[in-house]
Amino acid sequence: MEKILTKNIDKPNSQDIEVYLADGGYKALEKVLTLKPEEVIDEVKKSRLVGRGGAAFPVGLKWSFTSKEDGEPKFIVCNADEGEPGTFKDRVILRNDPHLLLEAIIIGGYAIGTSHGYIYVRGEYYPEIEVLEKAIKQAKEKGYLGNNILRSGFSFNIQLYKGAGSYVCGEETALLESMEGNRGSPDCRPPFPAQSGFLGKPTAVNNVETLANIPAIIINGGNWYSKIGSPGSPGPKLFCLSGQVNKPGVYELPTGIPLRELIENYGGGVRGEFKAVLPGGVSSSLLTDLDVKLDYKSIAKAGSMLGSGAVIVINSDTSMIDVAKNTIDFFAHESCGKCSVCREGTRRAREIITRFANGGGRAEELDLLLELGEVMYDTACCGLGQVAMSATTSAIKLFRDEFEQKVRE
Ligand SMILES: Cc1cc2nc3c(=O)[nH]c(=O)nc-3n(C[C@H](O)[C@H](O)[C@H](O)COP(=O)(O)O)c2cc1C
Ligand code: SF4
Repeated sequence: MEKILTKNIDKPNSQDIEVYLADGGYKALEKVLTLKPEEVIDEVKKSRLVGRGGAAFPVGLKWSFTSKEDGEPKFIVCNADEGEPGTFKDRVILRNDPHLLLEAIIIGGYAIGTSHGYIYVRGEYYPEIEVLEKAIKQAKEKGYLGNNILRSGFSFNIQLYKGAGSYVCGEETALLESMEGNRGSPDCRPPFPAQSGFLGKPTAVNNVETLANIPAIIINGGNWYSKIGSPGSPGPKLFCLSGQVNKPGVYELPTGIPLRELIENYGGGVRGEFKAVLPGGVSSSLLTDLDVKLDYKSIAKAGSMLGSGAVIVINSDTSMIDVAKNTIDFFAHESCGKCSVCREGTRRAREIITRFANGGGRAEELDLLLELGEVMYDTACCGLGQVAMSATTSAIKLFRDEFEQKVRE
């Protein structure tokens, strides 16, 4: 497949605006400025692009809702927090092709009808922050950002916000709270950010990779894009392959590629014997079927979620109790504490799993963990609490014997 998201990343000085311009950079923006905002949104709707940050929500719909909401000014916010363990794809774009992202955010701003764009970037991404700052300066100097862009009458600016190292601040409502200077804690929805977001105004929040698709959609058309990969969620996807594979890395491939092909043809095969995979980072459930297709619908049907595309491979030397312990330790640490079911649930689950890890598990507590996972899924306010138990409960369901061997005599 011809590369769309990573086509520029290996060019020398790929961050420089001259390199970006030499290969058609900012042409999509020039085209957009001759269209009506509704026409831009229609093209994105035709592409059937869905968000790559985890929730897979259709981008055209999100932009359409935001543009139609009452309330001024509106905002567009790029989510560059990239906190999900096993996810390291957005940084490839941030570090190597910042103008692709800036062009996409400006187009998004034009489409929803705002002059105000923000990038909320993970605070630890120091080199990426430097690259972005320089790129914003260059885009201003060339007239792609600022007042009256390319003499179109449209003005737009982008400001950077640096996160402070909290995983939950990648959740869009917590991210907006953090931008407002409040404690980074999610809000229960509705209202959604498209209705009431940054400073209570209509706000479109989009992931870096999601936005990076936009210039190609504008240049080649939504119909062209919709034919790439799986029809239900088309397009290229950046898969972050990690864990026990020979060649971990970020691979741009069409959605719907079988897991086996990703691991064997691109990842150089499993180190050791395949046992299971977390297809969407530590928030997803374990799968053992190598023939599952990597798209949102197929993975959901198989009982897990593709999320941000963090494919973590686990081999047969790995204890599933360790997998459960690692993931629940993470969620217990990152729970913001707002809902008791998540605050207490993750801590109690950590205590129980720790007992199993130390050989002192209680048999009846395995079913208790499964029940706790269901209650948290149904009642937690945000995605963190809803999926915090996914890896743990799927480990118990698929590898129960490993847990039973650790039951106290
Ligand atoms: C706990 C949690 C953490 C999240 N972290 C991120 C993140 O780091 N980056 C991201 O783009 N989306 C993250 N999301 C998803 C966002 O809430 C939101 O759905 C996304 O930014 C919307 O952009 P998209 O529609 O382009 O995917 C997270 C969600 C949850 C529940
Ligand atoms: S589910 Fe957990 S992380 Fe989300 S708001 Fe509730 S306590 Fe906070």
